[in-house]
Amino acid sequence: MNALLIAIAAAAMVWCQPLLAAADPPPGAASCSGCHSPAATNSAIPRLYGRDAADIEKAMAGFRDGSLPATVMNRIAKGFTDEESRAIAAWLAAQK
Ligand code: HEC
Repeated sequence: MNALLIAIAAAAMVWCQPLLAAADPPPGAASCSGCHSPAATNSAIPRLYGRDAADIEKAMAGFRDGSLPATVMNRIAKGFTDEESRAIAAWLAAQK
C-alpha cells in the first residue's frame, strides 16, 4: 500500500515538473532579470529567456568553480546550489 502511494506521488511530481517550470519562478530566478533583461537584445549582458537550460546550468557551474572568467557572475553563482541552478535554468529556458 505504501509503495503504491509513493509511486503515485512520484508520478505526480514528475508530471507536474514542466508545469511548475512554466509557472512561478523558482527562488532566485526573478533576480536574474535585473541584469539579464528579458527584453533587450543589444545589451552587453546576454538575455537568458529561452536559452538552453543545459547551457545556463553549465555556465553557472563554471562561474561557481572559477573555470569561467567573470566580473559578477562568480559571486552570484556561489549563492546557488547545483539543484537551485538547475531549477532556475529550467525556468529561464521555458520563458519566451
Ligand atoms: C548584477 C548583475 C547580474 C545578475 C543579478 C545576474 N547576472 Fe548573469 N551575468 C552578468 C554579467 C555581467 C555576465 C557576464 C560575465 C561576468 O562578467 O560576470 C553574466 C553572465 C551570465 C551567463 C553567461 C551567459 C553567456 O552567454 O555567456 C549566465 C548563464 C548567467 N549570467 C546567468 C545568470 C543567472 C541564472 C542569474 C540569476 C540567478 C544571473 N545571471 C544574475 C550579470 C548579472
